[in-house]
Amino acid sequence: MSKTFYIETFGCQMNAHDSEKVIGTLEQHGYARVDDEADAGLILYNTCSIRDKAEQKVFHRLNEYKRLQGEGKKFAVLGCVAQQEGTRIFEKAPYVSLVSGSASYRNLPEMLSRLENGEQRITGLDDRQTDAAFETEFVARTNPHRGYITIIEGCDKFCAYCVVPYTRGKERSRTAKSVLDEARRMADAGFTEIQLLGQNVNSYKDPSGRMSFAELLAAIGQLTGIRRVRFTTSHPRDFTRDIVEAIDAVPALCDHVHLPVQSGSTAVLKAMNREYTRDWYLERISWIKAAKRSISLTSDIIVGFPGETEEDLEQTATLLEEVGYDAIFAFKYSPRPNTPAIGMADSLSDEVKAARLQVLLDRQREIQRTNYERHVGEEMELMVEGYNRQRGQVIGRSTQNKTVNFTTTQAILPATGSYVRVRVTQSFPNSLVGEACV
Ligand code: 5AD
Ligand code: SF4
Repeated sequence: MSKTFYIETFGCQMNAHDSEKVIGTLEQHGYARVDDEADAGLILYNTCSIRDKAEQKVFHRLNEYKRLQGEGKKFAVLGCVAQQEGTRIFEKAPYVSLVSGSASYRNLPEMLSRLENGEQRITGLDDRQTDAAFETEFVARTNPHRGYITIIEGCDKFCAYCVVPYTRGKERSRTAKSVLDEARRMADAGFTEIQLLGQNVNSYKDPSGRMSFAELLAAIGQLTGIRRVRFTTSHPRDFTRDIVEAIDAVPALCDHVHLPVQSGSTAVLKAMNREYTRDWYLERISWIKAAKRSISLTSDIIVGFPGETEEDLEQTATLLEEVGYDAIFAFKYSPRPNTPAIGMADSLSDEVKAARLQVLLDRQREIQRTNYERHVGEEMELMVEGYNRQRGQVIGRSTQNKTVNFTTTQAILPATGSYVRVRVTQSFPNSLVGEACV
């Protein structure tokens, strides 16, 4: 087998960052990355199974790979579909040699040696048994300015609709020391933005007992060279007031909290096993709104969960208005294997779910139109992310995670990763337009 690899990644930021760590581990073992699967000795597919018959898509994609077999190539399936389907993958796609879920990546070096020795059916499928996180010094980071750090893996919440507790294993946090060491190394390497990751990032529990999540946030925000710290995704159940206090106290902590509510109806929340009510959630929102800084709020929503009525949907719509989110990610409920909700009748047709989704998206658009309009005339600092050369605009991101397309009178455009002050001149429901301050 030639020591070259090709990797394709699907799913959330955790998966994207896992791939950065997998790539770093492979490179450390003498593998070179190639951009074309035809040139690769090892093809890896890092999968997601959160919604929409994801496993079928994986098998479809594996079928396409089939044409490449017989050229001495090896195939590996990683991530959530690997964990969920396990050895069934070997039955359906016998040319696959390695199947591993994220809870087993710490064994990758050993699995790679076995692969090189010609072993055929290698599995890494410990799920809820492991206490170990996947840490490596060799992370192939794709962005030189903004870097991810996973501080907690897995999930112990068991929401009725969700595969994650089964695919990513039980919650396990890294020590605050190892997180801070990594953040410091990143700051030294020139990163100015750090994004802390976890399925429930704020459920973080330092195994050494030294720091709370809010203290860890604050400590990272105070590192020399770090100008922005983000964290995602927070679970309302573990959202404590000291997180808001930390944001107020430490300028580098970004003015943004992603706090998925999933539904505005207490009855649906109960059926989803979210362990909070509408009012309980809104109390956390009131803490965030009482902050000295203007903290932007975003959410995930599921429509069409089993038993959801038109009244429940209306409750969600009014919650969107009450909170005034700056963005929502709304999904049609999709039954997932092994989850408790699979036993509940998925009685709403796809048409009904699609129509309900549209109702929410239409209402949300109006909320965002108003929210974004409020920024016109404001001056803000942006991190430069790229350029829209056709329009002669620079693309930047605000601390609130809003996209601002701006022009500048400077002959030389600001570099990606640099910070620029901009005055907002125009707004849309999803982005702002501005001019660089001189
Ligand atoms: N169906 C639809 N959406 C889902 N999500 C998680 N599981 C499902 C499912 N079975 C959504 C939730 C979660 C986001 C990452 O994906 O809104 O917050
Ligand atoms: Fe997809 Fe969830 Fe796995 Fe992320 S954790 S890759 S969203 S199934």
